[in-house]
Amino acid sequence: MTASQAAGQGGELCFAHFSDTHVLSLEGARAREFLNKRATGAVNLALNRSRQYRVEVFERLLAAIRALAPDHSVCTGDLVNLALAAEFDRVRALLREHFVAGALTVVPGNHDAYERDATSAGRFEAAFGDYLPRDVDVASGGRYPVVRLGTGWGVVGLSSAVPTPAFLATGTIGEDQQQAARQALAAPELVGRFRMVMLHHPLLPDPTRPFDHLRRLTDAEAVVDLLAAAGPDLVVHGHNHVFVRNRLPGTDVPLIQVASGSRRKSGYMAEFNVYRIRDGRLRSIERHIYDEATDAFHPHDEWGRRLP
Ligand SMILES: [Fe+2]
Repeated sequence: MTASQAAGQGGELCFAHFSDTHVLSLEGARAREFLNKRATGAVNLALNRSRQYRVEVFERLLAAIRALAPDHSVCTGDLVNLALAAEFDRVRALLREHFVAGALTVVPGNHDAYERDATSAGRFEAAFGDYLPRDVDVASGGRYPVVRLGTGWGVVGLSSAVPTPAFLATGTIGEDQQQAARQALAAPELVGRFRMVMLHHPLLPDPTRPFDHLRRLTDAEAVVDLLAAAGPDLVVHGHNHVFVRNRLPGTDVPLIQVASGSRRKSGYMAEFNVYRIRDGRLRSIERHIYDEATDAFHPHDEWGRRLP
């Protein structure tokens, strides 16, 4: 059975993708939670950032995605800002309002693992466990990769989230996950389906961005090699807050970066992507971009031209 045959009537699929909502909440935070990386000017930075990254815009995004009723939605991390418990509580409540467990798959970003207290307590996994499936058994020492199976499709979600020293926003997949991802992408349950890979960090450097190496995926080359060999149908990520379409090096596999899902800044307004799949291939990308005047998201083509 081909992916298109498996994809249901007409072989069409629709995925929504959002990322980097950076919800900040200092509610209930204790002083000792700031005796670490969070003390290094990070709170000031986060407060400044929170003027641009608006939870009410995120709420509009969630409602807009629900109205579109995609086959599935994926979120590529940085849901929170300083990885404080109150931030995870707030985002969990928002997601639960809009997504039943089977409707969304998430992976964490560097901000979800901002400090070791958050990762050692497993805050991300505790908050979003409903959205971290393992529908295919793979040999992995940890929770990742997540693997989601739907009718005619499968999603493999890698975690690149690791706590880093101050002023670093790097990520790492690691050999254990690489091996498990290889296994998942070759699993009989995924063969013949549309296979999407999701992660937070970009796989390619962005030479236009100052200090890009301080934000990179440290084992990107190895991950690119494994994906080029495994040949998924689509790879999506976030992290850099602008829409970018690339190709996985040496392949025709689309490699898509989505913008932030909550930003309210002229020229960098919040977006989410909609991927339309037909006959097992990505046919079009709609960028749904937030408009302040109407307080709503509107569909655009991938070059930013408004769609009717
Ligand atoms: Fe990030």
